[in-house]
Amino acid sequence: MKNITPWWIRVPIIFFLIFGLMEYFIDSGEQPAIIEYPIVALFLVLVLFILIAIELILKSVENVMFQTLPPEAKERYELSKSKQWEWKWGKETWKKLTGNKPIEEENEIILDHNYDGIRELDNNLPPWWVYMFYATIVFGIIYLARFHVFDGYTQDMEYEQEVAEAQIAIEAYKKTAKGLVDANTVELLTDATDIKAGEAIFTSSCVACHMADGGGGIGPNLTDEYWILGGGIKNVFHTISEGGRDGKGMIAWKQTLKPAQIAQVASYILTEINGTTPANPKAPEGDIWTAEAAP
Ligand code: HEC
Repeated sequence: MKNITPWWIRVPIIFFLIFGLMEYFIDSGEQPAIIEYPIVALFLVLVLFILIAIELILKSVENVMFQTLPPEAKERYELSKSKQWEWKWGKETWKKLTGNKPIEEENEIILDHNYDGIRELDNNLPPWWVYMFYATIVFGIIYLARFHVFDGYTQDMEYEQEVAEAQIAIEAYKKTAKGLVDANTVELLTDATDIKAGEAIFTSSCVACHMADGGGGIGPNLTDEYWILGGGIKNVFHTISEGGRDGKGMIAWKQTLKPAQIAQVASYILTEINGTTPANPKAPEGDIWTAEAAP
């Protein structure tokens, strides 16, 4: 039996081929499939086991067949094995890259001076090192042309671009992290879940003074377009968070409610309460608030 490639090349190649194909064909969103679906990892481990098992079986078959060979055939077989191309190829590449002269040929490169028996070899620079040096030259030329002759991007542009990217990332983060809002950044929430949560907070904490329908009692009417402390999501958020004027009875709710909850209850007031007609409306207090007049 003649092996074309040794097992330590064959097994990894097949394994990573299967791995790559799975990653390519399984739609797993942003995460790699192996992390998104643990079953994939399990499957790959199984594949690896099977590959190793196949190798072991091949090896033992080879062994059994080897034992049945006559002695001279055994010898021939051993010889052909030791000459397998990957060793030859590996050794030759290694030799080419180091550029070493074997000891037997050192007399070709020995210099003719002799200091108390110490003699000098005129070795070549190791080719791996020389190739790297050439690579830096090529890189240098391309770099020079790109950035000094043809005006590539500058550090300033790179900076601007990264700042812009970061800005986008911050915006995206703020959208998911609702807890980060304050009176300056809050936006009216429209999600049904947020409004529902806002309603729950209103029912448990606010109805005592504002009434369930917002008509007002100790606190002012929240259904009309008159606001003492300013309408609009930002002002309402600020009022709930920091409280009303001293001595009026509206406490600063930031002690008890998280910013996200304040945003929810403020949004609930503005979308579900404001603009409705309550059973016993309290007389308007404050001024008509319009978005244009807002500071
Ligand atoms: C103890 C009674 C009381 C409770 C409880 C209360 N409020 Fe008030 N609220 C008031 C009073 C009184 C004012 C008027 C404050 C002022 O005049 O400065 C007010 C004002 C407001 C305003 C501003 C109205 C305007 O015209 O500018 C909003 C909005 C508001 N409350 C929302 C809430 C929310 C939301 C809750 C529940 C988390 C709540 N309040 C709980 C008494 C209360």
